[in-house]
Amino acid sequence: MRRGSLVQLIALTLVAFAVGTAVAVFVPWMPTPASKEAGRIWFTYWFATWICLGIFAIVAAVLVYSLLKFRVKEGDLSDGPPVHGHTTLEIVWTAVPFVLVTAISIVSAIVLAQDSHAGKNPLKITVTAQQFAWKFTYPNKQTHGIMRIPKGRHVLLTLTSNDVIHSFWVPQMGQKQDAVPGQKNTLVITPTRLGTYPLICTELCGLGHSLMRSTVMVLSPAGYKAWYTGAEAAPPPSGGAKSAAALFTGAGTCGACHTFAPAKAAGTIGPSLDHLKADAARAGQALEAYVKQSIEDPDAYVTPTYKKGVMSASCCKQLSSDQVDKLVQYLVENSK
Ligand code: CUA
Repeated sequence: MRRGSLVQLIALTLVAFAVGTAVAVFVPWMPTPASKEAGRIWFTYWFATWICLGIFAIVAAVLVYSLLKFRVKEGDLSDGPPVHGHTTLEIVWTAVPFVLVTAISIVSAIVLAQDSHAGKNPLKITVTAQQFAWKFTYPNKQTHGIMRIPKGRHVLLTLTSNDVIHSFWVPQMGQKQDAVPGQKNTLVITPTRLGTYPLICTELCGLGHSLMRSTVMVLSPAGYKAWYTGAEAAPPPSGGAKSAAALFTGAGTCGACHTFAPAKAAGTIGPSLDHLKADAARAGQALEAYVKQSIEDPDAYVTPTYKKGVMSASCCKQLSSDQVDKLVQYLVENSK
């Protein structure tokens, strides 16, 4: 190869590398990581990206060089000289990718192992998904609709679902994990930044899938402790101690899907409950019987323009009959 050609190839390689690097670096492809696990995943991402950029630059340079240098000359219809391979080149382009792909898989395996390691004393939270809400149960058995976790501590999530498959994803925390009925999947989060982050369901789970969101709040260890002990002092959420209004707006219950002005609920997945008297009249039922049936057997009568099977029985399965009665009473008393 002549010296001039080599200089041209190197120049083209540098240009292609600069263009590729600009696209990779200056476009914000990934959110700023907010957990140790995400930081390691971002590292893997950049490790693979730099390798790709190098290979892209070499391939693009050779391609452009060949297009310009070996353009057909006008009137020249002859064949090029026959070529029967190039052993050195073939060994190089087999060995180099082998080494690179092996390196990526080793880095990935290490990161995967580290990211699922919860340490000696993790904060254990049970995450229960259901159409279309998230619930977080803490070691003190308290359940909340948003997840608060302390900065710097390993958090071990155990995910499950009450109805269909959902998937837990906080973009800034990197990892995704499915919530599967009858199964317990785990996910480790070690938050590194204070703040509030969106939690998104990433498994198509029904009509309300796109609205199945919650929030993860990363608090300082002291702030978390204050919240946690404060929450512990509150009355337990079980049985009759919980007011009907709290049942309605509580984690993953009616308010997530229905609008009801007295409870300040504004869900839009199911029909509004702001005109229950008219709805009962249209269904040809007494108000109280109508409300009770709608909770216990949602598909027996479905408000026009809404579909059957959206309000699954799982919505109210965890309510005792006492709690259902309370809820019915609350809705009847506050309905217009
Ligand atoms: Cu739950 Cu999508």
